[in-house]
Amino acid sequence: MPVATPRHYLMCEPLHYTVSYEINPWMDVTRHTDRDLAVAQWRVLRDTYLALGHTVETISPLEGLPDMVYAANGATVVDGVVYSAKFHYAERAPEGPAYQKWFADRGYLTHTAAVTNEGEGDLLVIGDVILAGWGFRTDRAAHAELQELVGRPVISLELVDPHFYHLDTALAVLSSDPAAPQIAYYPAAFSAGSRTVLERMFPDAILATAADAAALGLNAVSDGLNVVVAPDAVDLAAALRARGYLPIPVDTSELLKGGGGAKCCTLEVRGTASAPVTVRA
Ligand code: ARG
Repeated sequence: MPVATPRHYLMCEPLHYTVSYEINPWMDVTRHTDRDLAVAQWRVLRDTYLALGHTVETISPLEGLPDMVYAANGATVVDGVVYSAKFHYAERAPEGPAYQKWFADRGYLTHTAAVTNEGEGDLLVIGDVILAGWGFRTDRAAHAELQELVGRPVISLELVDPHFYHLDTALAVLSSDPAAPQIAYYPAAFSAGSRTVLERMFPDAILATAADAAALGLNAVSDGLNVVVAPDAVDLAAALRARGYLPIPVDTSELLKGGGGAKCCTLEVRGTASAPVTVRA
């Protein structure tokens, strides 16, 4: 039976949101973006988490970093240990140190990654293991670096479709309960061997349809019961309901122009800071 547990999220308001470069197939610099609509949709997303009883903190958006709204890429946090992001594309490179500083300023133990990785975009914690994507952004060697850092097995999964360039665009963690971990995923986004790994590990997983995937429905955020999901992912919503989850449609269509949805905008903070908090204004 799905059960909600309180979550702690870090988000970044899209005050500088635009599409000024193209680093994934969803981005089109010739298409108009509406910053105010992006901000309004982001606020609904934040307020949804707050209404569900979760904690939301925010990091100040930096000018010139329009993708900073996709907070999931900013780091990976396990047991209060922060593995910094090291971005594949130069356009996003300054985001890694900005997110790392946010955590360091608040007393978290941070580790500067030696290897290219895009945070929770590709590194998804589920129970006691971590599912890790590679193929487009995160270097496979980062999987080993993270495993050594946090002492949890990291399972490498190969992504093969450029539309699903981050693991969190092709796979959603629904339950992180170590006794009953559960996911939804889009099989066609993975190599044959990686699909077999997922079938072995999660024989009861929800298999998303092509339409769900095209709506970026797998870029969903679950607290174990409530699943914030793109409204157009109707097959996924029905499958979730059938398993006892509560799909909560939240429209992030403006942020989809950058290639991201709800999960991309949401970095989960697991564990607490190890040092006394010394937040500077
Ligand atoms: N424009 C961003 C990029 O291509 C979108 C990142 C989406 N984030 C995510 N967690 N999938 O890097």
